[in-house]
Amino acid sequence: MSSQAEEAAEQGSNTEGPSSSSSTDNGATTSGDIITVTIGATVPTGFEHTAAEEVKEKIGVETRISKDRGRIYFPITTDKLYQAHLLRSVDNLFVVVEEYDHYQFKESKEETLMELHELASKLPWTKALEVWKLNRSLKKKKGHRKGGNGSKSKLENVATDSPVPNTEQQELPEAPAPGGQTNSESTPDMESSMQESGDTAPEAKVIKFRVTCNRAGDKHSFSSNEAARDFGGAVQEFFQWKADMTKFDIEVLLNIHNEEVVIGIALTEESLHRRNISHFGPTTLRSTLCYGMLRLCKPQVSDIILDPMCGTGAIPLEGAIEFNSSFYIAGDNYDMAVNRTVNNICHIQKRRAEKGGASGLPIDTVRWDLCNLPMRTSSVDIIITDMPFGKRMGSRKKNWDLYPSCLREMARVCRPGSGKAVLLTQDKKCFSKAISRMGGLWRKLHTVWVNVGGLHAGVYLLKRTGAVFGETPEDIYESRGLTNTQADEKDDKELS
Ligand SMILES: C[S@@+](CC[C@H](N)C(=O)[O-])C[C@H]1O[C@@H](n2cnc3c(N)ncnc32)[C@H](O)[C@@H]1O
Repeated sequence: MSSQAEEAAEQGSNTEGPSSSSSTDNGATTSGDIITVTIGATVPTGFEHTAAEEVKEKIGVETRISKDRGRIYFPITTDKLYQAHLLRSVDNLFVVVEEYDHYQFKESKEETLMELHELASKLPWTKALEVWKLNRSLKKKKGHRKGGNGSKSKLENVATDSPVPNTEQQELPEAPAPGGQTNSESTPDMESSMQESGDTAPEAKVIKFRVTCNRAGDKHSFSSNEAARDFGGAVQEFFQWKADMTKFDIEVLLNIHNEEVVIGIALTEESLHRRNISHFGPTTLRSTLCYGMLRLCKPQVSDIILDPMCGTGAIPLEGAIEFNSSFYIAGDNYDMAVNRTVNNICHIQKRRAEKGGASGLPIDTVRWDLCNLPMRTSSVDIIITDMPFGKRMGSRKKNWDLYPSCLREMARVCRPGSGKAVLLTQDKKCFSKAISRMGGLWRKLHTVWVNVGGLHAGVYLLKRTGAVFGETPEDIYESRGLTNTQADEKDDKELS
């Protein structure tokens, strides 16, 4: 082992707190016991700017948005590391070891892999390992990464190839997360994690590690598996660590996006997006995406917020936790969905009560048909929902009836002039047509394009116009001085 490897490995196995050091590795500066490093975070694609806003608000630093969609980078001092785990918009966190904006890959595969092999011993690992160690002490003792079932244990390293950037994970909890992790349904619990500080660094035992390569771009002469294997081999030689795909202490990340290369060390064991849900459904939305949708409509104190197709309740639950001065009503027409929502709410309330915190959440559940809501006209401030795409849930054919009826009923209960709706759907054509048939009850303000389980979907921010509900579309068109055809053409143009 080289002296740098010894120093870095020492950081990995030492169980004491962060030591002071004067060396300044790339991306890390020192100041007494506190060091500054760069944190990378994966976020729902499309909501990178929302995540940057949250980082600015909660940690007070500027964020750099990677050209690789779905990633952000920001500096942090180690005394604030725990705050990164409390961000609501990030899925996974890692500390950056080194980054190259324009890595010049060699022409041939052999040369490139040789270079990646040599790279491992040249990287400034020390500070990142120090942060990894500190991070372990922030988390509660969980043992090894959950969910490992041994199915990948024969693989040397883990890799994901994607010709186009796709950092989004599946909607379904059963789906494997990027990097080959097997997801588990248990929720991470940072609140209690922060209170316990059991440093589990294995002192006398050999550190186990794996390399995960996430690669996007079609101009590489090598596969992700090859990169992970060769880079991982060099990491093993350099540190004398032991490769283990399932029971590892350290996960080294090799993120390659075209010519951008970022090497990091993972700080999260499972995506933070699972934090609220204990009872999953077939299309449970990531909490991080729910947070992005909620921020779009800026909930205000005492707002009444409706999710009329709540499924497992992921959106109203995130709202009731993070924007808790509003009141949420979660409804669905499917018994099992309503039960799941109730169970998810109870689970969180129980967890809070056990910790002695405030147990009540500002949320109610009800079984209803969205097309006939048991609510007064103009009584709701915000409607926020994830509509059936017509793929895993419902059908495209049914959407042609469902979308116009539900947009109309939503317009009825929403306050004219001030009400808003944030609606997620992948059935863009049907949605746009349905909006254009609403006779001006809704106006489209903004669309965020997101990736939901590999599907390109739109999050539409709509404003409830002052148009009076109950007039026929023809009446409304007439009041706008238009014939039906002119109004349709105008709406289509606005929506295209
Ligand atoms: C895409 S899922 C919502 C998933 C949810 N966001 C979650 O995270 O679990 C759409 C939901 O709409 C519900 N739904 C479909 N038609 C409905 C209707 N007419 N009234 C109420 N809910 C309806 C379905 O039962 C389903 O739970």
